[in-house]
Amino acid sequence: MALTFNPIPASYRRLSDDELTERIRRKKQASGDKLVILTHHYQRKEVAALGDYIGDSYALSKIASELEAEIIVFCGVHFMAEAADILSTDKQTVYLPNPLAGCPMADMAAITNVMHAWDQLKELLPDTKIIPIAYMNTAADLKAFCGRNDGLICTSSNATGAFRWGLERGDKVFFYPDEHLGRNTANKLAIPENEIAVWDYRLRRLGGNTPEKIKNAKVIIWKGYCHVHTTFTPEHVQRMREKFPDVKVVVHPECPQEVVKLADADGSTAFIVKYVEEAEPGATIAIGTEINLVDRLAHENPDKKIMELSGNTCAMCVNMYRTTLNDLAWCLENLDDIRPIEVRPEIKEEARLSLSRMLEVPR
Ligand code: 13P
Ligand code: SF4
Repeated sequence: MALTFNPIPASYRRLSDDELTERIRRKKQASGDKLVILTHHYQRKEVAALGDYIGDSYALSKIASELEAEIIVFCGVHFMAEAADILSTDKQTVYLPNPLAGCPMADMAAITNVMHAWDQLKELLPDTKIIPIAYMNTAADLKAFCGRNDGLICTSSNATGAFRWGLERGDKVFFYPDEHLGRNTANKLAIPENEIAVWDYRLRRLGGNTPEKIKNAKVIIWKGYCHVHTTFTPEHVQRMREKFPDVKVVVHPECPQEVVKLADADGSTAFIVKYVEEAEPGATIAIGTEINLVDRLAHENPDKKIMELSGNTCAMCVNMYRTTLNDLAWCLENLDDIRPIEVRPEIKEEARLSLSRMLEVPR
């Protein structure tokens, strides 16, 4: 069902799922190689089923950089479609079927706040080389900021490699916007707690740190978070282990470090999919990530017991969920009238530079 505030025409909202699916299939068939649909792992299962490619944010950006199709329809959130536009050629056009699909975590790092922080860091440490690293979950202007300041982009699948890359080229790494991915990555690199500073962007001076703290830090991390992954707690892991002694717990690294430390494994959405697929039949697996992916994995792996880790919270990304069959059908049938995702030309080159560096870094 379409969300009531979705601005697509009422005629699309009245169609059944079967009718919508049929129309989408027909449009895809008629378009042949000209059109490709990319879907992120968190999409609703009926949308995910219609994609030509499904993947995590790293894989989809890599695919977008290699595609030849003229039209790329990205069923995901805004920053992902922007990355596809940056990495594709000027002859290709990228569409986001529901323009309201954003990412609240990405919105926690605005360019003005990041530049304010950067200026303070430069003033405090004029002779220190700081490498900015932006999570894929950022707007294009923040990716461009990394490009022009010798930095790069990372996703949850290559953050360790990106931090290593940054620390080989600079004295410090400045990572935004996810505190938890930042901390979990610093932990994997065995960076001690006293060399990690968290920058609270709501505070006026040094993100709430003393000059000494910033000077000693190897890694400076923005205080952003994902509202989906921060619902998971250590108690959820403990309860699962009490109830199911054989359970394996796998979580996304946007979860707090206390959860990641108790889990058996952590990794990107593609990592989680692989973890489940490779588990022995009969395995019991509790997953700390978005509910639509967990439900799909449970459905696709009936020989395993697949559960959402908390069991009682609503770990749903409403932004990923915004894209419905109605949106997809409307988008495909009205490509000439819909405004595509277009990153401003003046920042595109620098943003592409930082994404290209990411694609070259060993994972
Ligand atoms: P992946 O890069 O693992 O696909 O995750 C993207 C995301 O937004 C997770 O919340
Ligand atoms: Fe953003 Fe979290 Fe949704 Fe991922 S799950 S798109 S980080 S809000």
